[in-house]
Amino acid sequence: DWTPASFVEETVQALQDQLGDDRVVLGLSGGVDSSVAAMLLHKAIGKNLTCIFVDNGLLRKYEYENVLDSYKHMGLNVIGVDAKDLFLGQLNGVSEPEQKRKIIGRVFIEVFDAEAKKITGVKWLAQGTIYPDVIESVSVNGPSATIKSHHNVGGLPEKMNLKVVEPLKLLFKDEVRRVGNEMKISPTILGRHPFPGPGLSIRILGEITPEKVALLQDVDHIFIEGLRSHNLYDQVWQAGAMLLPVQSVGVMGDERTYESVVALRAVASTDGMTADWVHLPYEFLGRISNEIINRVKGVNRVVYDISSKPPATIEWE
Ligand code: XMP
Repeated sequence: DWTPASFVEETVQALQDQLGDDRVVLGLSGGVDSSVAAMLLHKAIGKNLTCIFVDNGLLRKYEYENVLDSYKHMGLNVIGVDAKDLFLGQLNGVSEPEQKRKIIGRVFIEVFDAEAKKITGVKWLAQGTIYPDVIESVSVNGPSATIKSHHNVGGLPEKMNLKVVEPLKLLFKDEVRRVGNEMKISPTILGRHPFPGPGLSIRILGEITPEKVALLQDVDHIFIEGLRSHNLYDQVWQAGAMLLPVQSVGVMGDERTYESVVALRAVASTDGMTADWVHLPYEFLGRISNEIINRVKGVNRVVYDISSKPPATIEWE
């Protein structure tokens, strides 16, 4: 019978047999899968596991500090890499969505590889691949692949010449959460909404600048914290804000304004392949809209995205 406890016990044993005294490197994303994979490896091989968490400058507000802190609390050996300037520099002037994804994928591999090379004698790359990823990557060669090239740590193993270990390869998401819970990983990490590898870059339509990132971080923070404080966070599969490349006219006091528009998006889904927009309460949307316009300089209009996937996708780029 499959239970989280027996899975942890058997997997830790299997990892010890497989890895012996070898050193392993793992890329943490702040998400559920890589966190649970890291914890299993930590239990199995302790300090022979080194985790790397990269700040690509496109994370949510306070995310880098918060995630790094919570991993350190869990006892993991984590290296935080501040690569904000590198990513934003490479993205400078780029507005085409696929090009953004490719640049971020390439820079991530470069940064991760350089960091991993500093650890002596690493033989393995651990990944938080879960069963649906395995299936999806089969279809990556099919026609649907061209819709959006998803960047996780795709090209890493080939580039790094390391053996790959994937302890969650046979699990579904709900099982991963149960295993995480069994190992006492915090509910905040286990319940986190999915967040794309390219981060806020695919929610800033058009060119990315540090100012736009900062603005969107503020908007997103108000929205997500609002969902939490109104007990809506767990009823939504994923949520976020998009910064549109248009300005619209507004009025503040006696002054005409000409400022940015942001779109809020919240969806219900089970796997991200299809999604419905969530009927968030008008009362809530009204408050959040006011809060954003009052507190975030440069935004004078908020709209709510009521499109489902298909035909719209979850991310706007
Ligand atoms: P779309 O926008 O295709 O997104 O409806 C479906 C789900 O995938 C996430 N997403 C990504 N995740 N790397 C990721 O790790 C990516 O490049 C990427 N693009 C989209 C998206 O946030 C949603 O959960």
